[in-house]
Amino acid sequence: MDELRQKYLGAIADAADEPTLEELRLQAVGKKGEVSLRMRELGRMTPEERQEMGPKLNALKDEINSALAAKKAALADAALNERLRAEWLDVTLPGRPRRQGTIHPVSQVTDEITAIFADMGFSVAEGPQIESDWFNFDALNIPPEHPARQEHDTFFMSRAEGDNRPPHVLRTHTSPVQIRAMQETGAPIRVIAPGRVYRCDYDQTHTPMFHQVEGLAIGRDISMANLKWVLEEFCRAFFEVEGVELRFRASHFPFTEPSAEVDIRCSWADGSLKIGEGDDWMEILGSGMVHPKVLSAAGVDPSQWQGFAFGMGIDRIAMLKYGIPDLRAFFDSDLRWLRHYGFSALDVPTLQGGLSA
Ligand code: DAH
Repeated sequence: MDELRQKYLGAIADAADEPTLEELRLQAVGKKGEVSLRMRELGRMTPEERQEMGPKLNALKDEINSALAAKKAALADAALNERLRAEWLDVTLPGRPRRQGTIHPVSQVTDEITAIFADMGFSVAEGPQIESDWFNFDALNIPPEHPARQEHDTFFMSRAEGDNRPPHVLRTHTSPVQIRAMQETGAPIRVIAPGRVYRCDYDQTHTPMFHQVEGLAIGRDISMANLKWVLEEFCRAFFEVEGVELRFRASHFPFTEPSAEVDIRCSWADGSLKIGEGDDWMEILGSGMVHPKVLSAAGVDPSQWQGFAFGMGIDRIAMLKYGIPDLRAFFDSDLRWLRHYGFSALDVPTLQGGLSA
């Protein structure tokens, strides 16, 4: 009996895992276990023997059962402690900096422009970048002999062999969106149309793809005075200069009459550009009163409606606002360059203030 006791209590104490414990339980107190078999023998004993052996065997069975339970709990504890040790995490370690993108200056400036004009009641219109030459030229009163229609300015798409229709073009300006917007909603209308435009041109201030924003306001009696106020209001908000001064210079565009180019007062003192002060003028956009032929082409009756339009280079005013010297850098540069000009990632708090370079 003592032998049995020592054998099982020792084995239980030494058991390394739960399956071993279960094995021991079956061997000792399972249906065919050693202790159970001994208990079955009680029936063949004399009453005296039984009285002596019965309680001993019962006590042994209880002892083995509690040793099993205690060992099982100890094994579970040890497993948990081992996990706690192995899966330990140092929450005081500094975070790993994550690479962050930034909003491209052109996108940011486009959003700024859209927000400012939205405050003045302009909604956003869009048109395709591959445009028919009717929308890009004819509807805008640009005659076939106009220089903008010559090969060296415009990217023409090619037609299939034998297709003699005029080729589509990569739109050379956002002005065709005027026509599309008026066709869609008629007058009155107040929209801006920001987007990509294309011309065969490449130097410090020209890239083959660039961005313009078109403005269009048509009503019963919209005048040049309204144009002037809207543009001044825009420049004040965009350049964040209170007393911003604009100069309207008589000009010519086929799609406006009269037409004006608009300059903004600036200075180039010690090589850096300041908007709103000084004796220089910088051209920022073309504008005018929408030509009656343009209204007619878009299905708007010029005897009932009139209004202004303007077209502004987004990249260009972004360069002016942020003092960026080379337009090409916009489309061929990296994050360090963007950070240099103060364009940062979206304002998301990070553990270490982002990738401070
Ligand atoms: N479309 C002209 C360009 O690309 C810019 C322009 C001038 C747009 C006068 C206008 C405008 O709407 O009225 O150079």
